[in-house]
Amino acid sequence: MTISIILVELLKKMYLIGYDIGSSSIKAALVDGNSNKALAIVTSPSDHELGMDAPQLGWAEQDPAIWWEHICIATKQLLKKTSIAPDDIKAIGIAYQMHGLVLIDKDHQVVRPSIIWCDSRAVSIGEETYEKLGSSFCLGHLLNSPGNFTASKLRWVLENEPQLFDKASHFMLPGDYLAMKMTGKVKSTISGLSEGTLWDFKNNKVSEKLLDHLGISNSMAPDLTPTFGLQGQLHEKAAKQMGLSIGTPVTYRAGDQPNNALSLGVIDDGEIAATGGTSGVVYGVKNKPIADKQARINSFAHVNYTQENPMTGALLCINAAGILYRWVRLLIGAENLSYSAMEERASSSEIGSDGVVVLPFGNGAERMLGNRDIGAGIEGLQLNRHSKSHLIRASLEGIAFSFVYGMKVLEELGIPIQKMRVGSDNLFQSEIFSSTISNLMNTQIELVENTGAVGAARAAGYGIGHFANLKEAVSSDKVIKRFTPSPRSNLGEAYDKWKHTLNNKINIHDESK
Ligand code: XUL
Repeated sequence: MTISIILVELLKKMYLIGYDIGSSSIKAALVDGNSNKALAIVTSPSDHELGMDAPQLGWAEQDPAIWWEHICIATKQLLKKTSIAPDDIKAIGIAYQMHGLVLIDKDHQVVRPSIIWCDSRAVSIGEETYEKLGSSFCLGHLLNSPGNFTASKLRWVLENEPQLFDKASHFMLPGDYLAMKMTGKVKSTISGLSEGTLWDFKNNKVSEKLLDHLGISNSMAPDLTPTFGLQGQLHEKAAKQMGLSIGTPVTYRAGDQPNNALSLGVIDDGEIAATGGTSGVVYGVKNKPIADKQARINSFAHVNYTQENPMTGALLCINAAGILYRWVRLLIGAENLSYSAMEERASSSEIGSDGVVVLPFGNGAERMLGNRDIGAGIEGLQLNRHSKSHLIRASLEGIAFSFVYGMKVLEELGIPIQKMRVGSDNLFQSEIFSSTISNLMNTQIELVENTGAVGAARAAGYGIGHFANLKEAVSSDKVIKRFTPSPRSNLGEAYDKWKHTLNNKINIHDESK
């Protein structure tokens, strides 16, 4: 190749946009595909967090129109910030909050608000289905109990809102809906369908047996699209609303947790990622299907899953992680305090928070607690001793202890956690939080300068064929901090006390049922 051809190649503009559609905000990143660096990252809304509607106890709903509105706002902000021309955006990638249900009619209009990931209304449907279909079918074919996932939520609508159900032509996950808003195509991925327990791993297709059992027609399932590759192109209306060019390809979609893992380069057997956003997640990759008989974790097709190379994500989720910390911050009137100032306050209290124990639940049924919704709790407050700093520290410790509790389940299932990678925009930035986990689990934690929206943009670059190698596309970020275990004796004591409080609360919950 002559130097001039090389120069022309280098000067070819290749910009990528990635979205991370969470339940508290939408993050969007614009990445220069040539340097593989993020040029801008925006969050919308930027001044508050999106709410979840809870029309009844244990429910959680969001209107998909809100996600779309903030995608459009964020996209325009990215273009404005970077002065990049819409025509130079070559691919779009989507990461989305998982396990939700969006129902659309034949005109692609939503039939009801989305029933989102932390909504607990379908727990009993999942339990009943597990019992009727049997553990050998559910774990062998679906890798999970139907639990509180998309399939069970779908059945809930059929049972409780038959008129709305009748209007629906397709069920989808939140990311499928947003891709449809962009491209007009009603599609889902194997990874997506498996996250809703709708994928039959043995027969390599949507599970007819599960759908039949639930009384749902197979025709409601979206057609398949690959996780990476051409999923569709922006149609005129979407392009106009987003401020992008007609025809821009959508080339990647995945749930936010597999996407977080991918963004951190976690795609091979034995690698572990984690995050502490609204929910907290530890995500291990295995090169073969894995299932938990007690349904404390969720397994599904990782982004690089194929039938021949069945890379599987084993996901531990704590529904109430960052959401608990944010709630405490508001409770103590510290909304103007930065998270680093909160950390400073927490540091003035000792390990164990002088006996204050926080149970960080209360955001829907917790899978690792047998899908119980035990609520959050604060125990051990002594009014003459304790102050805000104890409460802040106890919250960080309580969330960290719940990670440790769940990580022990992962280890029990054959997923050892010697090292894990985490992004730089979540609870793991807290020294107290990360060192509590690192010390109790004897695990090294690598804090990587990364966020899921950047990973989604890079994955879109891979989807369009710009990067030849997936691992290389996502593994260029710096490790900005390492938490290395240094055992502290009183930490074990504090954890035991927390576990004791949790067990008491579970007993009280079970007795009152
Ligand atoms: C993962 C889970 C949550 C959502 C949050 O299983 O339910 O982390 O993906 O968006």
